[in-house]
Amino acid sequence: MTRPLGLLILGRQGSGKGTQAAHIASASGVVHISTGDMLRQAVADQTELGVQADAIMKSGGLVSDDIMIGIVEQRLRQDDVVARGFLLDGFPRTVAQAEALAGFEGVTIDMAINLNVPVEECTTRMMARGRDDDTEDAIRRRLDLYEAETEAPLRAWAEERGIWRVVDGLGTEDEVATRMAEALGEVGA
Ligand code: AP5
Ligand code: MG
Repeated sequence: MTRPLGLLILGRQGSGKGTQAAHIASASGVVHISTGDMLRQAVADQTELGVQADAIMKSGGLVSDDIMIGIVEQRLRQDDVVARGFLLDGFPRTVAQAEALAGFEGVTIDMAINLNVPVEECTTRMMARGRDDDTEDAIRRRLDLYEAETEAPLRAWAEERGIWRVVDGLGTEDEVATRMAEALGEVGA
């Protein structure tokens, strides 16, 4: 039996990670894990984590590495993920998160896809979506943080491992999904 896949989707806020991750999960059977969705669920359930994360998310800041690493490590140990593999959306967002992920027992990362969409288009998409944290200030802060903490350092980290792929995220949802499927074909997804 072949080993289940470990996939990452990276890209600016509003680039369409969540949208494309849903396509990939239904086509290939891997489990879509969105750390943003997990945090929004915790906020809705008013758990201790949710209460802490709420203000951070609304301001466009990042929840601490320790907390995020703990949540993801726990999720990756669950039976569905062990059996079917995973597509992480929104994690890692810092090199510390990436290093922790690579060190989790039994976890292999086959590909990190960077969904490439220019800042202006991401802003337009987020303003049209109108989630709770899609205010002008929070959007600007998230995009700035992405440039500084995520894109360049994670690109270097993933290139070193030979797992970095860039996919053009402009065009219709279906056009982008076709490009994603082509890239993922390389690892048999
Ligand atoms: P998270 O939920 O991950 O938000 P994000 O990174 O800001 O990314 P989005 O979910 O906003 O964008 P997306 O790329 O998924 O785009 P989408 O598919 O929705 O994180 C939220 C917060 O949680 C963070 O700010 C942080 O505080 C915290 N957090 C999460 N993970 C963390 C971590 N690891 N460490 C620390 N903190 C963490 O698409 C956007 C819109 O565009 C949609 O309306 C969609 O319908 C539309 N769209 C999609 N594709 C297209 C297309 N091809 N053409 C036109 N429109 C399109
Ligand atoms: Mg998302």
